[in-house]
Amino acid sequence: MQQVLYHPEHGYYSSGRCVIGRKGDYFTNVSVGPLFGQLLASQFSEIWERLGKTNDFVIVEQGAHDGQFALDVLEFAQKRLPEFFDALRYRIIEPFPILEQQQRRKLEAFGDKVKWPDSLEPFTGIHFSNELLDAMPVRLINNGTEKLVGLDGDKFIFVERSQGRTASQPSGDNSASNQDALDWIDAVAASLQRGYVIAIDYGFLDEEFERNVQVRARHQNLDSPFEQIGYADITTFVHWGSIAERAQANGLRVAGFTDQHHFLTGIISKLGRGASPEPPADDWGQSSLPNSRKAKRELQTLLHPEMLGRAFQVLALAKNVEVEPTPLAGFKFARHPGQSS
Ligand SMILES: C[S@@+](CC[C@H](N)C(=O)[O-])C[C@H]1O[C@@H](n2cnc3c(N)ncnc32)[C@H](O)[C@@H]1O
Repeated sequence: MQQVLYHPEHGYYSSGRCVIGRKGDYFTNVSVGPLFGQLLASQFSEIWERLGKTNDFVIVEQGAHDGQFALDVLEFAQKRLPEFFDALRYRIIEPFPILEQQQRRKLEAFGDKVKWPDSLEPFTGIHFSNELLDAMPVRLINNGTEKLVGLDGDKFIFVERSQGRTASQPSGDNSASNQDALDWIDAVAASLQRGYVIAIDYGFLDEEFERNVQVRARHQNLDSPFEQIGYADITTFVHWGSIAERAQANGLRVAGFTDQHHFLTGIISKLGRGASPEPPADDWGQSSLPNSRKAKRELQTLLHPEMLGRAFQVLALAKNVEVEPTPLAGFKFARHPGQSS
């Protein structure tokens, strides 16, 4: 997975071959349209208010692809949330030069507001990612057996290896299988001084799920990761439980966990009721929702349980933020417990 996705020359992501959206290999929340970024901008603005409207507020994004999410957030904030926009700085952590170039082109109009540090730096604000974690390489360990990649002649095949059982790693324990994701939360926790981590992705909360990979190209599922190597995406379900646990060990608190349907519905229910007493005007109409046909279609795709609404979950982690009597807007209708722990 590491080589296929991230080899400097041939990797699906690092080569810049990955295309998201109708003409690409798969859809994401971001590729549905600007509404996703606009709703998240509202949630970010509420967080900024809760942190005392600090004028040194940073959004750090990882897995920013071509910069479209950043563009949607910044354009919306500039137009609708000017006070928040003034306080805001946007940072993208991008390991791949070809993607950084695309992002720089797309975000040119925002000048110095957006920067590309080489690595995570200390910040107050929000770390945001959409479908970053599912792209992190994993080991396929299930019930004490690990699947490794071997060769049969000139063909790649899976080879199974028994892990053996130890007291610290009983059979069925998946804890070591997503080391990259655990290292990532360690690093994010260390650089976040005060604020939130918001990660959106698809996965499972509990311990017992069978780790596997999905392979996708041109909106089709492929049978094997050995097909179309470097031209197909390989992803895995996120093990939320282990990430939350590791975050807590690093001094973060679970501030919310729910599915995308409930998350976005919570944000929508509070739209325009933050600092500004009036709902947004213009194409957002008198109601708190956009009323163009396109925006309604986007909303349906993001919210519908059989489209993206149930497939995705949202985990929010807080650091050095007091537990407040009301959860963040996105967790107002949260279906899962875990606001405080
Ligand atoms: C599935 S895409 C998601 C793109 C975008 N967030 C969206 O929702 O449309 C995953 C992205 O994560 C990036 N990525 C993987 N590991 C990363 C890392 N350690 N730091 C930054 N980006 C990373 C990949 O290069 C890829 O662009």
